[in-house]
Amino acid sequence: MCGIIGYIGKEKAAPILVKGLKNLEYRGYDSAGFSTIDNGTLLIAKDTGKLNEIELKININELHGCVGISHCRWATHGNVTQENAHPHTDCTGRISIVHNGIIENFSELKEMLIAKNHKFSSSTDTEVISHLIEEYYTGNLPEAVRKALKEVEGSYALGVLSADEPDIIVAARNESPLIIGKGKNAMFIASDVPAILEHTNEIIYLDDKEIAVLTKSNFRVFDLDGREKKKEIKKISWSMEDAEKGGYEHFMLKEIYEQPRAIEDTINGRLKNGTINIKEELGMDENSLKKISKIIIVACGTSWHSALVGEFMLEELAKIPVEVEYASEFRYRNPIVDADTLVIGISQSGETADTIAAMKEAKRRGAHVISICNVMGSSITRISDAVLYTRAGPEIGVASTKAFTTQLAVLYLLTMHFAKLKNTLTEKQLQSMAQGIRKIPLQMQAVLEKDAETEELAHLYHKSTNALYLGRGANFPIALEGALKMKEVSYIHAEGYPAAEMKHGPIALIDKNMPVVFVAPYDTYTYKKILGNIEEVKARGGIVIAIATEGDREVAKKAGHVIYIPDSLYTLSSMLSVIPLQLLAYHTAKKLGKDVDKPRSLAKSVTVE
Ligand code: F6R
Repeated sequence: MCGIIGYIGKEKAAPILVKGLKNLEYRGYDSAGFSTIDNGTLLIAKDTGKLNEIELKININELHGCVGISHCRWATHGNVTQENAHPHTDCTGRISIVHNGIIENFSELKEMLIAKNHKFSSSTDTEVISHLIEEYYTGNLPEAVRKALKEVEGSYALGVLSADEPDIIVAARNESPLIIGKGKNAMFIASDVPAILEHTNEIIYLDDKEIAVLTKSNFRVFDLDGREKKKEIKKISWSMEDAEKGGYEHFMLKEIYEQPRAIEDTINGRLKNGTINIKEELGMDENSLKKISKIIIVACGTSWHSALVGEFMLEELAKIPVEVEYASEFRYRNPIVDADTLVIGISQSGETADTIAAMKEAKRRGAHVISICNVMGSSITRISDAVLYTRAGPEIGVASTKAFTTQLAVLYLLTMHFAKLKNTLTEKQLQSMAQGIRKIPLQMQAVLEKDAETEELAHLYHKSTNALYLGRGANFPIALEGALKMKEVSYIHAEGYPAAEMKHGPIALIDKNMPVVFVAPYDTYTYKKILGNIEEVKARGGIVIAIATEGDREVAKKAGHVIYIPDSLYTLSSMLSVIPLQLLAYHTAKKLGKDVDKPRSLAKSVTVE
């Protein structure tokens, strides 16, 4: 889980690499490094820490040359040390490589290479690739990389330089993301679009087991057998501004505030005059869709929470049995899947290794596999039979926010589609669902205008060491999500539970120091029960913070603090109730002086198992 950028062109490479890498730091930020070629000499500079710290430790200006590769690291094999930072070189110091992924057979390869007298200077899996390339190098770098990769098992996105061939960069990918950017008199490689968007919006997506050879004016792509492949150049519509902070202090805050726009974009064109219009995107004929007897949703983390809300929507309104699985568990079980099972993978990045593996497994077992994803052309979208894109735009903050609510929007549209197809709702009910979601962007805006109230709560309670989040129905996953947000950015221990489960254990934790957040928008099933749970917390001296529906006087009488959200259809309430919890986590982390956009030990896309 690391970031890569490479440049070959007419300008000095190093400053371009530093700038591009800053847009990839969400992928890893424990160390970084650069390699360029200047007058036939390979130059390397690397160190531990975040990029702005490294810039103080190494002199970027000394890295001359118009070709270079660089890397920001999130350690998997080997500690966070300067030796383990990328780029890595071969024994001659004339070949350098950057790598994102995991080489599974690195121990065997290392043993074999050591027997051939190769000297290793790091404990990474990556270094075996540079020595393997050296083994095959006879003056033709693409050929040596191709031969080396034939022996490598595992995942890789690679950038390779050789001081003997300063006019090319060789790149390759297998199960780790890598794109090529075609600029004006320059070519780029990168793990993700924001790294190169300033220079080009013309992108080529590499597929698994492909090798690319870049010169400053051209690129060619080959398979591992050396056969040339035709690649399409795609134009990305994201602007650089989309990928930058736009005046907000942190990406997380910017992305929380972007949610009304993101929902608007996600539903646009998919709802016409109250009619749902996702048939073509789904890419399945009506008969096959009608035959679907079960849906399994696989996802991780925040995306798994959106899957839980999706389960509630699909079962409640479309009457289809749904199972929600942690992708990491699904892939190693013996799941019961057949041709009438629809498997949905949900992922913001489209690069989460466990979700990719779960979807591949479902496909292998004969299921129709679709995805809900935010990143066009990402790995998950390419293994899916069809993709419903969330149109959230680039999500840079490590804590997922706008991707989550746009996933809920897509799940809601999917529910409408199935409900119509299976006749489980009347036309009138469908119309009311369409009107309901149309109102959400404005209602989100109204919640965002209460930001000062969440900031005040953060001010009061940021010194707490624990917090409980409770909810029911479609808002139980929001309790989980609120707790996850708090944990990951503020490092305060927080747990989410179904509110009724409190009495089976967690109630023992409640005392006067314990903030308990009730996600309690009005609903006809469980609202009254939640009021009872609030009483139970109060009786034990706990601090009650409630998220409730505008106008709810009952909750106001019982809770210490209430943040109101506008009245909406209950299935849509989770899109609103999550916002104060995102803001509460954000302000708490900020008050505690935490690095909100780059929480410790986390990376934006988890491309390893
Ligand atoms: C939490 C968070 C993670 C991701 C998870 C899945 O804020 O961002 O829990 O949700 O790693 O990532 P995607 O959705 O990219 O598959």
